[in-house]
Amino acid sequence: MNPRIFVKNVAGKTGQTIKVAGWVDARRDHGKLIFIDLVDASGILQAVFGPKNKELFELAETLRLNDVVEIEGVVVERPSNMINPEMETGKVELSAKTLNILNKAETTPFELNTDGYEVDEEARLKFRYLDLRRSRLQKNIKTRHHIIQFIRNFLTAKDFVEIETPVLTKSTPEGARDYVVPSRAQKRKFYALPQSPQQYKQLLMVAGFEKYFQIARCFRDEDTRGDRQPEFTQLDLEMSFAEKEDVMNLNEELLIKIVENIYPDKKISQIPFPRISHKECTEKYKTDRPDLRKNKDDKNELAFCWVVDFPFFEKNKEGKWTFTHNPFSATAPEHHEMLMEKKDIEKITTIQYDIVLNGFEIGGGSIRNHKPEALKKVLEIIGHEEKDIEENFGHMLGAFTFGAPPHGGIAFGLDRLVAILQNEPNIREVIAFPKTGDGRDLMMNAPSEIQKEQLEELGISVNKKKK
Ligand code: AMO
Repeated sequence: MNPRIFVKNVAGKTGQTIKVAGWVDARRDHGKLIFIDLVDASGILQAVFGPKNKELFELAETLRLNDVVEIEGVVVERPSNMINPEMETGKVELSAKTLNILNKAETTPFELNTDGYEVDEEARLKFRYLDLRRSRLQKNIKTRHHIIQFIRNFLTAKDFVEIETPVLTKSTPEGARDYVVPSRAQKRKFYALPQSPQQYKQLLMVAGFEKYFQIARCFRDEDTRGDRQPEFTQLDLEMSFAEKEDVMNLNEELLIKIVENIYPDKKISQIPFPRISHKECTEKYKTDRPDLRKNKDDKNELAFCWVVDFPFFEKNKEGKWTFTHNPFSATAPEHHEMLMEKKDIEKITTIQYDIVLNGFEIGGGSIRNHKPEALKKVLEIIGHEEKDIEENFGHMLGAFTFGAPPHGGIAFGLDRLVAILQNEPNIREVIAFPKTGDGRDLMMNAPSEIQKEQLEELGISVNKKKK
């Protein structure tokens, strides 16, 4: 019995008997011959059923689109007038000897042979396992994998260690609402899902790892848009004994190499990436995410830029001070005294850097505040009382008293980066199982109600629906 091979591997196997398996992508009946396009994860191959074996021919006649089949046959060269230069395997075909129908398929709710943009999105998300079969999405998800693989190799070669951090944790102040998870063992207490691994990665620096990264899932209960999902993925990294230049240069090199290796047709507008101060940026471009492409119709132009020197604090709607990016950031060295004396707060800038690509914020980071007394001042300015500083940030302040190295890092929105590189209009096109605008998973039907017993076990009562 032949082992099954991927159809992309038929090249060079002319004359050999092989076995392939996959989905029927098309069936063409030409009188005495039936042609099947067989698709598997690697590509597409034409199989032919001739009239000699009547039983086999009749079975092939029953094949319908998307049936799952296994075919054994001989690889033969196509006559020269039948060569299909569009197909990777277009010079050969499989002369079928056996056909095994592994699963019959109903008519799918929408066509899978198109790019899918024309299909109603609710239907695409409900039947995502079918939607993902279309070649555009297969390409997006596989290229996403290549990018992640490239990042892993690049950072590993530079002595970074990939470390997983908890998903069941405590609220992190990243500016959005938390998703909370009730605890059964600790009744009436809740975990929060992390908005980012920010505190853990800083604690890993105190723990002496020096160079950390993670392809990290983050959760933010905020209104979903084209470039926002309630759960999304960051390339998160942190470095000890690093200054702003070290973090920025490393990440610039990584981005350039991703483009050179995975997108050789794309052109980066300017290297090194331009750096614009937040002040100049908002004055000149009226936004902190400028689109610096010379020609916005050019699909292959990538205009990266860094935005730097952000104000640390801003007033919120109630007129109280809040942080603009991250309470754990350090001030510009020349503004340290202003922070410690809590004076001219609006003038304090932070060592923060955002990275923008074609008008989208694809990442942001900062050099952190590793001195407990300075972090405490930040928390006081943004209105935390002594007791609540201890309760919520005691572990960070404590950790910084046991030998905390100076450190800094960055996080990229991986979904956003991949979507732009793949020329997709929104991040849902590069996420295998995204959620709708109002946070639902239509395929799994989540969120959903849970059993009364589960609620009781958790000590939770749910308000009755208002009539
Ligand atoms: P920040 O909150 O800026 O920084 O997030 C980093 C990057 O993550 C992406 N992003 C999102 N992508 C999809 N859906 C969302 N809802 C969403 N929210 C954010 C953006 C953003 O630039 N801990 C800090 C990083 C650091 O300082 O190291 C942080 O999370 O592309």
